[in-house]
Amino acid sequence: MILVTGGAGFIGSHTCVALSAAGYDVLIADNFSNSSPERVDGISEITGKSIHCVRADVCDRGAMEELFSRYPVDGVIHFAGFKAVGESVAKPLEYYRNNIDSALTLCGVMSERGVRKLIFSSSATVYRADNPMPLDENALLGCTNPYGWSKLMIEQILRDLALSDPGWSIALLRYFNPIGAHESGIIGEDPSGIPNNLFPFVSRVASGEIRKLHVFGSDYPTPDGTGVRDYIHVMDLAEGHVRALGYISSFSGVEAFNLGTGKGTSVLELVRAFEKASGRPVPYVLDDRRPGDIAVCYANTGKAEEKLQWKARYGIGEMCRDGWNWEMRRRKG
Ligand SMILES: NC(=O)c1ccc[n+]([C@@H]2O[C@H](COP(=O)([O-])OP(=O)(O)OC[C@H]3O[C@@H](n4cnc5c(N)ncnc54)[C@H](O)[C@@H]3O)[C@@H](O)[C@H]2O)c1
Repeated sequence: MILVTGGAGFIGSHTCVALSAAGYDVLIADNFSNSSPERVDGISEITGKSIHCVRADVCDRGAMEELFSRYPVDGVIHFAGFKAVGESVAKPLEYYRNNIDSALTLCGVMSERGVRKLIFSSSATVYRADNPMPLDENALLGCTNPYGWSKLMIEQILRDLALSDPGWSIALLRYFNPIGAHESGIIGEDPSGIPNNLFPFVSRVASGEIRKLHVFGSDYPTPDGTGVRDYIHVMDLAEGHVRALGYISSFSGVEAFNLGTGKGTSVLELVRAFEKASGRPVPYVLDDRRPGDIAVCYANTGKAEEKLQWKARYGIGEMCRDGWNWEMRRRKG
């Protein structure tokens, strides 16, 4: 059985669908601080299987010990954590506490129970901004905000853990920009309040819920002047976890992998693709650059292709199609 912490969240829920389709028995542990139990119902609806789910805080050692004694967990995917870069600057202690404490508590209980297969949700934010593109896994590491540092610190903790005990098999998956939704439209990204990320913002402008998009920076050295990122369909990302799980079953130590498409898309290209997929206009205004943003960021995905036998399949049009499908269902309630 695979324990998926934060499995009710955006990436976790899609990964549970992919794991279930691949034949894994899935157990979710989530405190629903940024999700809801209905998401778990959505996973069951898609998979046609009932999903085990425990409401638990991963920082709560007693709750984790109980969970490991009740269920035959033999591997863990650790998604649980806070993820908003801007909020992490305003609330560094909350971010360090939740992200690092959950990883330490989880690994402590895993170690005690002899479960040593772990996939950790890391991020492309662990790479320094001055690396040449595309980024491979050996690019220089360094962050500019507490969220990124919490990911990099956990990567280091996991490397030290694996050094202390060769029984550990750990994959550090560095995600680029996951967007889109399951093609059924039953699950997708559902940030509360004003979205922090570009894609849910764009889809809420297309639906009319938000009046217009602010594009931060139109004078970057890119073809249309707007920032370029590596967007990846969340179901491709989910499949990357299934492959990584297979990989660590016959591997010992720690390995980092980029999960992206290897292709850059500008903000305005994404806006146009979304307009095409939705048939709706996405009005926008061009604003100044935001401090800390970089012009271009995309992955070299060669290592994941070679070692995980994984490659993203979906293009930006399909990401927008599935994201819009989800947005329409979400609005209908
Ligand atoms: N979405 C992205 O753009 C992105 C990019 C790179 C990395 N990541 C990482 O991937 C992981 C999943 O991201 P997501 O977009 O699905 O976020 P999300 O907020 O949708 O999901 C995280 C889930 O973890 C739960 N959670 C948080 N703290 C918890 C705790 N202490 N105990 C139990 N549950 C807890 C939340 O309720 C939520 O369901 C996060 O670790 C995030 O940092 C996300």
